[in-house]
Amino acid sequence: MKVKILRQVSPFSESYWETFDADVPGETSVAALIDHINYNDDITDETGRPTTRIGWECSCLQGVCGSCAMVINEVPSLACETFVRDLVKDGNGTITIRPLRKFPIVHDLVVDRSSIFENLKKTSMYVEEYRPSSKAKKAKQKEELAHRYQTAKCLKCGLCLEVCPNYVNGERFLGALFANDCYLVSSRNPERSAEVGKQYAEHFAAGCSKSLSCMDVCPMKIPTIASMAKMNRKA
Ligand code: FES
Repeated sequence: MKVKILRQVSPFSESYWETFDADVPGETSVAALIDHINYNDDITDETGRPTTRIGWECSCLQGVCGSCAMVINEVPSLACETFVRDLVKDGNGTITIRPLRKFPIVHDLVVDRSSIFENLKKTSMYVEEYRPSSKAKKAKQKEELAHRYQTAKCLKCGLCLEVCPNYVNGERFLGALFANDCYLVSSRNPERSAEVGKQYAEHFAAGCSKSLSCMDVCPMKIPTIASMAKMNRKA
C-alpha cells in the first residue's frame, strides 16, 4: 500500500508530496498508520531516499479531542477514526493525506486553528456563568436538552470549515461550529438571545448557502440544521 502525504517543513516553505510504502492490517487507523511510518529512526520514502518524521497532532486517539483532523483521500476526517480497510481494498491502493486547507500550516499535517477560538472570544460566543433556572424554565428547557447535549459535543476540530464552500479564512463568515455555539449560548442564556441573534445573522446567516456538507463530515453528528432552524427565528 502507498501512503502519499503532503508535507511542508515550516509555515514559510513550499509544500511537496512524499510517498511511503506501508504494510499494515486493514483494522489500522490512519493515526496508527502515520505512527507506523514514523516508528523507525531511519525513515525512507518509497524510493529508499532518507527523509524526516511526519509532523502531525493527536491527543486522545479515540475521537474526542479533534486534534488529528486532516484530509484523507479528499475527505475531511479524524485520523484516529478513519480505518485503512475503508480506504484501500485488500491492502492495495494509495491513501492520500494532506493538512486542512483553511488554516495556516505549522508543519506537515499540523495546522494553526487558533482563529476558531479567537473568533469565539471576539464574538463572546461562550457561556459566561452558570445560572440555575427556575422550575418553570427547567421544564421548558428539558425539551432542549437532547439538542443542547448533542451540540455541546463539538470538538472544534475544523472539519466543518474545511468542507464548507463559504468559509474562507474566518474573517466574516464563521461556519457551522459558530452557528451551533450561537444556539448553545442563546439556549443556555436566554437573556443574551437578541445579542447572539445579531452575531448569528452577521457571521453565519448572511453567508451560509446551505450546502450542509458540514453535517456530512461532522465526527460528532451535530444537527447543525436544527440549530439553524432555531437561530434563524431569533436572527
Ligand atoms: S486524536 Fe483525538 S480525535 Fe483523534
